[in-house]
Amino acid sequence: MSITHNHDLTGQRALVTGATSGIGRAIALQLAAEGAEVVVHGRDAARGAETVEVITAAGGKAEFAAADLGNADDTRRLAEEVGDVDILVNNAGISVWGSTGEFDAGAYDAMFASNVRAPFLLVGALAPAMAARGKGSILNVSSMAGDIGMAGGAAYGATKAALEALTRSWAAEFSPSGVRVNAIAPGPVYTPTPSGRDFITSLGETTQMNRASEPEEIADVAAFLVSPRASYVTGATIAADGGRTAI
Ligand SMILES: NC(=O)c1ccc[n+]([C@@H]2O[C@H](COP(=O)([O-])OP(=O)(O)OC[C@H]3O[C@@H](n4cnc5c(N)ncnc54)[C@H](OP(=O)(O)O)[C@@H]3O)[C@@H](O)[C@H]2O)c1
Repeated sequence: MSITHNHDLTGQRALVTGATSGIGRAIALQLAAEGAEVVVHGRDAARGAETVEVITAAGGKAEFAAADLGNADDTRRLAEEVGDVDILVNNAGISVWGSTGEFDAGAYDAMFASNVRAPFLLVGALAPAMAARGKGSILNVSSMAGDIGMAGGAAYGATKAALEALTRSWAAEFSPSGVRVNAIAPGPVYTPTPSGRDFITSLGETTQMNRASEPEEIADVAAFLVSPRASYVTGATIAADGGRTAI
């Protein structure tokens, strides 16, 4: 095999959910820089337009698609409107932290709807067509919270553990047809997450690298995983967490 370079996503169409902010935005920018045509998904049209503008100003191709992934019908509509994609990044998600006894049932349901049900519906709508074409790549954005116990993170961690279980089952279901399905499990990342910057900093201090990460450090790994450079990787959850879950 020859050495591959950047821009190996030319000609591929990618849907990145939650690309109006944080990790998803960084992934959308990275995929576009590597040549993909990116559907930037989110709810906030102004931030969606800004992400699209940054991509197109750099010479890339992007469009914005809005949908509330907490709503099943809207999620199915998004898949129908977007149509065929070569790459699906299930990044959109929310993290609500709190003690189990006081946890709001509505917040629990909303978190499972956006973090687990939406990826399930999007894969159900988009992966069969990838399989029929014999190729495609799906990346689910999990979290170290899905792999280790964290006080206050029971419900959030459960959504991410579920997403990792889905990743393995989808690899079993779709990889025989040429569709790779993987997950990335970031450690703490500085994003506009409602958990706040101090929370991210304190989590960063628990990692082996004694720091939190920037979204671009996650996006680089994500871009590798969806690209042909990761052609023999499927069913895997790759930690990008400063060693937090390894030791
Ligand atoms: N930040 C971290 O430390 C960290 C660590 C590990 C894993 N993660 C995971 O990484 C992913 C991205 O997190 P982030 O920190 O980058 O978050 P963020 O900056 O808060 O951005 C979240 C994105 O998801 C979208 N989104 C959330 N709920 C949605 C819904 N119901 N319908 C449609 N879009 C929705 C938002 O869209 P709009 O704002 O346009 O509505 C936004 O684009 C999440 O799955 C999160 O669990 C984050």
